[in-house]
Amino acid sequence: MKSKIIKTKDFILRPLYLSDAESVAKHAHNRIISRNMARFPYPYKKRDAEVWLRRVVNYQRRKKQANIVFGIEIDGGIVGAINMHRIVPGHKAEIGYWIGKEYWGRGLMSKVIKEVVSYGFRELKLKRITAKVFPFNKASMRVLEKNHFKFEGILKKEEKKGNKYLDTHVYAKVRK
Ligand SMILES: CC(C)(COP(=O)(O)OP(=O)(O)OC[C@H]1O[C@@H](n2cnc3c(N)ncnc32)[C@H](O)[C@@H]1OP(=O)(O)O)[C@@H](O)C(=O)NCCC(=O)NCCS
Repeated sequence: MKSKIIKTKDFILRPLYLSDAESVAKHAHNRIISRNMARFPYPYKKRDAEVWLRRVVNYQRRKKQANIVFGIEIDGGIVGAINMHRIVPGHKAEIGYWIGKEYWGRGLMSKVIKEVVSYGFRELKLKRITAKVFPFNKASMRVLEKNHFKFEGILKKEEKKGNKYLDTHVYAKVRK
């Protein structure tokens, strides 16, 4: 499904297009982003952005609400993204997110998550939103805590990256 357009004073959350490839590649090319995400190439080339954007454009064409990706637009270009995946409308979804290094530490992702979470609860009528974080990613844990996600526990060796098995910390926010 296509994401809604959400405009705030700091950023615009919007659907993605193939024409975003250059800006995505510029901001996604970072070793730490790649290390913190389950599947994210490094080096990140324009070709990687095109492959990803083609997939996203395909999701956006479908009516089914299984996966929604919001591009984060700042200064006229896409500098990051947040997705809701494994969506079960009326019940639950997972979020994953990244933003380019030059934008870190300005409170941006905390605000992005706030918008997307309220969209999920309000429009998709979710009861539960989950995020999974690698144990070394303290900044990501912090943005979740700032959004009142609760730490629920550790999934041992949940992700395989290369030849390593990594634990993930599960955070969730639930609605009554
Ligand atoms: C994690 C990430 C999304 C945070 O985005 P951001 O816009 O910089 O986040 P914010 O500025 O809203 O908040 C970051 C918070 O983490 C804190 N923080 C940063 N580095 C930290 C560290 N090493 N230890 C503890 N806290 C840290 C900041 O101080 C800030 O908290 P504060 O507002 O209480 O001071 C961003 O760094 C990123 O894209 N990283 C790479 C990809 C990634 O990790 N994605 C998440 C995968 S689960």
